[in-house]
This record gives sequence, C-alpha cells and structure tokens, in this order.
Amino acid sequence: MSPASKSKNIGILTAGGDCPGLNAAIRGIAKAARDTHGMTVVGFLDGFTGLVENRFVPISDELSTGLLTLGGTILGTSRHKPHKMPLPDGSTRDMTGAAVETYRRLNLDCLVCIGGGGTAKNALRLQEAGMNIITLPKTIDNDVAETDVTFGYDSSMSIATEAIDRLHTTASSHKRLMLVDIMGHNTGWLALSASLAAGADVCLIPEVPYSFDAVLVALRRRLERGRRFSLISIAEGARPAASRDEVKNKEDRQSKKKNGQGPGNGKPTERPSSQAFLLAPKLESALGIETRVTTLGHVQRGGIPTPTDRLLATSLGITAAQWIADGKYGVMVGVKGIEMVPVPLEKVAGKKKTVPMDHPMIRTARAIGLCLGD
Ligand code: F6P
Repeated sequence: MSPASKSKNIGILTAGGDCPGLNAAIRGIAKAARDTHGMTVVGFLDGFTGLVENRFVPISDELSTGLLTLGGTILGTSRHKPHKMPLPDGSTRDMTGAAVETYRRLNLDCLVCIGGGGTAKNALRLQEAGMNIITLPKTIDNDVAETDVTFGYDSSMSIATEAIDRLHTTASSHKRLMLVDIMGHNTGWLALSASLAAGADVCLIPEVPYSFDAVLVALRRRLERGRRFSLISIAEGARPAASRDEVKNKEDRQSKKKNGQGPGNGKPTERPSSQAFLLAPKLESALGIETRVTTLGHVQRGGIPTPTDRLLATSLGITAAQWIADGKYGVMVGVKGIEMVPVPLEKVAGKKKTVPMDHPMIRTARAIGLCLGD
C-alpha cells in the first residue's frame, strides 16, 4: 500500500452508451484502489445523473466480485450531462454546482469517468469546476481520440463478425443479397473490422462516401464470377458521396432540434436513417436478386466481454488507480501499443478518431477486393 494514497476517496461513474467490459473496468479500479492503495471507493448511479443527485453505492469487496465477465454496467449509465440535466418540462438546467457539491460532501480525491469522447468533454467541465478527474476510454465505436483502442470494441467486433458469418450461410443457401446495418456512430471501425474478419463483399463506412454505381459494379462482378449471393455491411454513419452535404445539413438541423429530446422527455431521439433500408430496394431492382436487411442494433453492445476486452478494461482500471495514488489527474488513460499513457483531457474532449485512409485495415480491404463503395 502506498502511504500517499492511504486515505484517498474516489468515485467511479459510467456514462454514455454501455459496452461489454464496463464491469471489468469498475472491478479493476476498485480492487486496485481498495486492496493495493487502501482507498475507499464509491460508484455513482446512472452516469453523471447520480453525481448530480447524490446517488451512489460503496463499491465493497462483495460488490466488485463476479464482475469480470458481466455485461452492461452495475452502476447504470445515461447520456445526461451535468451542465444540461433534463427537466420534466423538456428544458435543461446546469447542475454542475450540484455535482461539485456531491464531490466535496463525499470528500473525494478523484472521480473516474468511464466513457467516450462526449464523457471526456463533460469530465473536463467538471475538472474546470474544481474536481480531480481521470477518464477511461470505452465504446464499441472505437472512436475515442488519442488512444489506439477502446474497450468494448473487441467484443462488439466479435458479435458483428459472428452475425455476418451467420448471414453468410443463409445468404448462400437462398442466393440473396444480405445487407447488415452495423453500429459505430460516425465512424467505420466496427463495420470495417467485422467485414474484413467475416469476408463481406462490400463495406460502406462514413470515412469513404460511397457511390451506388461502384457498389453495383462490385456486385455485378461477383455475379459474373458465378457468386449468386453477396454480403454488404453498412456502418450506420455511411453516406453516399453525392448527397453528403445535403445529408450533413439535415443532420445538423436535427441535432440542433435535439434539445429537449430523449428519455424522460417523452420525445424519441432522432437518428439519421440507415442507408441499408435505402439501398436494399435499389439493389434488388438493379440486380434482380432477392434482398434482405438485418439491423444488428444493440445486440452489439450486450453480453459478456471478450478476453481481450476483459484484459484491457482491467489494465486501464488498475492504471487509473495507480495514477490516483500518484496524484496524476486531468488525464485519460490512453493506449499506445502495449503501454498505457496519460493523455490530457483537453486532447480527448469532444474529439473523434475516424479511420484514416492509410490505415492497415483500409489497405487490407483494397488488397483483398473488399469494395468500400468508392
Ligand atoms: O456509442 C455507442 C453507440 O452504440 C453507437 O454505435 C450508436 O450510434 C449509439 O451508441 C446508439 O445509442 P443509443 O443506445 O442511445 O441508441
């Protein structure tokens, strides 16, 4: 036990969309913080909401047992931001003061926020309001800036890969086009990696605006080679090249309208429509092949984490505990190669890591003839 950390008190929260590995991270932080560094640990419920509303549970030895393999988050999560907490009438209120009050009342030395780029942005605001913060990068989207990888991504990649594998056999039996809509927000990490791993024929991602004609050419080529079925994976953020500006303007308008939407406000959160449903009828009539669409949706976020995610989440967790013991705050625990590196929150907050065009996965796709729609 390091003497400097003997009496430290820490809080943990999980925010944003859940993913496999959150509980493994909570366990990693709690075990190292409590057992190695002698800290006391509490967990706030439902993301930043618990912090603002002073709702928390002590993370005892008993509570952190059996968490390594458990999906979801025992703490609950939400997308609410302390500076914009939703009120029943649909308006929002800045509750940063209440968050700071909870932190002070519990005499916390640090708050660990487990989340993506949006969570880092909220965490940075709390740091500016006087809290010590460390964040851990999680999301199935793998889109957090300044880290090679996020936990949750490997598990969802496995789920999406298995789904495409399964679609493969039924597509081949029925000689159909199978379109599969894959999550990933505005990036194509998940769709691209699963498509490569499962041997999809076409993969459309936001980073590569697609042309319908290019997709047709690729599918016709397969037909000419006697392949009567094809697998087309489509990242939820993929968009056609031609209407990119048009779509972007519409999405901007939608996101501006978003205030007051969401859970608890009686209004559903709007999402841009999936390209899969737009493309399916067009491809079916252009190629004369029966076509089906599968939306993987939240299945990709559920269930047990893969061993890789368990290891990553645990390593990130124990590193956070070590840095708190050392008094190293204001950073995300980033992954560079096999090292954990401190990344200033300012470099992560609200940023997004997209798939670079010179990424090995793009080169691999080109080399094996996976059509990216360009
Ligand atoms: O960020 C994770 C993610 O699953 C994205 O891939 C997806 O766009 C979004 O969350 C879905 O969010 P919700 O759970 O609010 O529907």
